[in-house]
Parts: sequence; structure tokens; C-alpha cells
Amino acid sequence: MSNNGMLKSSIARKVAMALSGLFLILFLGQHFFINSMSVVSPDTFNEISHFMGYNPVVQFVLQPILIFGVIFHFCMGLYLDYQNKKARPIKYVKNNGAANASWMSRNMVITGIVVLAFLGLHFYDFWVHEMNVKYINVQPEDPTRYYEELRQKFVDPVRVGIYVVSFVLLALHLLHGFMSSFQSIGFNNKYSRSLRGFAYAFAILVPAGFALIALYHHFTI
Ligand code: HEM
Repeated sequence: MSNNGMLKSSIARKVAMALSGLFLILFLGQHFFINSMSVVSPDTFNEISHFMGYNPVVQFVLQPILIFGVIFHFCMGLYLDYQNKKARPIKYVKNNGAANASWMSRNMVITGIVVLAFLGLHFYDFWVHEMNVKYINVQPEDPTRYYEELRQKFVDPVRVGIYVVSFVLLALHLLHGFMSSFQSIGFNNKYSRSLRGFAYAFAILVPAGFALIALYHHFTI
């Protein structure tokens, strides 16, 4: 490939990385909203969870897109990191890392791997259970079961601890990732400053909110 072609495809990959990240952030926002209902109104939480669990569009269109999005984001992230390291044989990180880039930006792969490991546990906790109830041990539809099932997951203090630590790493991942995705898609105008503020607030408040939800259920059951 010509130099020009290589540059173009590497920009395309960065844009794809940013768009998949923004898509996952969108998912995270709605996931946070639904989970926060488990604190505010158990009935509403049950209603929404039941809808999400049985709606065919959510189950057979959105869910596979989401899973593809997670896998794509992870693989592309590893690939771009590998390309970056190859293009920069002298590791400036070792020389004077802090002066060149923030801890967050230098450790996106590490924070990303921790979030992915969390997702493994999280899938085991909720998704595998759900598949079991619906398709393996087929049980009759019960639109009121979700709230209690959720609370049971947060009885174990070790699990709550793992969740909370993962949310801290998620915040670090988002603190760099959210802003950097705007840069990658070339969003640079008079709204950039406000968007920066929104991205930082989201990166801190949403993971903190997830942690509070887990702690709330743990300490109130
Ligand atoms: C206290 C925090 C959280 C609680 C209580 C929670 C709860 C849940 C519940 C009840 C489900 C539904 C399972 C199902 O019916 O299929 C779910 C799915 C999921 N959660 Fe969470 N979650 C939390 C945090 C997170 C975070 C921080 C992430 C991402 C980093 C995340 C990613 C996912 C994903 C990818 C799914 C699968 C969605 C699907 O069904 O396709 N969750 N979670």
C-alpha cells in the first residue's frame, strides 16, 4: 500500500475505534439509567427489565450489535496500540511519560482489559443466569423477579468489592477515552469546551453512580 493509503486506513481505524467507543458510552448511559431505577423505583426497574428481556428487537437485534461492539472495540484497541508501539520504537513512556501524556492515556489497554474482565464476571452474573431462566431451565415468565434477583447478586462483599474496583478503572478508561473519541472523529468547534466538561462529568459520575447502586443494594438487603 502507498504511504497515503496507509495513512488513510490508519485514520479510518481510529475513527472506527472512536465510533465504537461512543456507541458503548451510549449503551452505558442507558444501562445506568435503568439500573438507577432499582434504587428509585423497584416496580419501574422490573417493568423495564422485563421489557428489555423479552422484546425481540432488543434481544435479537440490539444485543448482538452490542456484543459485536464490545468485541470490535477491544480487538481494534489492541491492534492500534500494537501499531503505535511499532511506529515509536523509542519508548517515551520510559523516558518521561508523565510529561508527554497522562497516566490514563498511556494505560488504556490495561484499564480496558480490567473492564473486559469485569464484563466476564458480569455476564456470568446476569446474562448467563438470564439465558438459563429463559432458554435452558425454561421457567414461566415472571415480570416481577428482576429486582430481587439483582439484590441477591450484591449480598457477597467480595463481588461488590470487585465491581467497585472495576468501576474505578472504568472511570479512568472513560476519562481519556470519551474526550479522545471526539478528537479522533475531528469534532473541533465552539461546542468542544462544553463537550469536554460533559465528557469529564460523565466519566466520573456514571461509574460513581454504578458503584453507589452496588453499595446501596449491599448495605440495604
Ligand atoms: C451496579 C452496576 C451494574 C448493575 C447492577 C448491572 C446490572 C445488569 C443487569 C441486570 C443486566 C441484564 C442482564 C440480562 O437481562 O441480559 C446487565 C447486562 C449487561 N451489563 Fe450491566 N450492570 C452494572 C454495571 C455495568 C457496567 C459498568 C457495564 C459496562 C462496563 C455493564 C455492561 C453490561 C452489559 C454489556 C450487559 C449485557 C447487555 C445485554 O443483555 O446484552 N454493566 N447488567
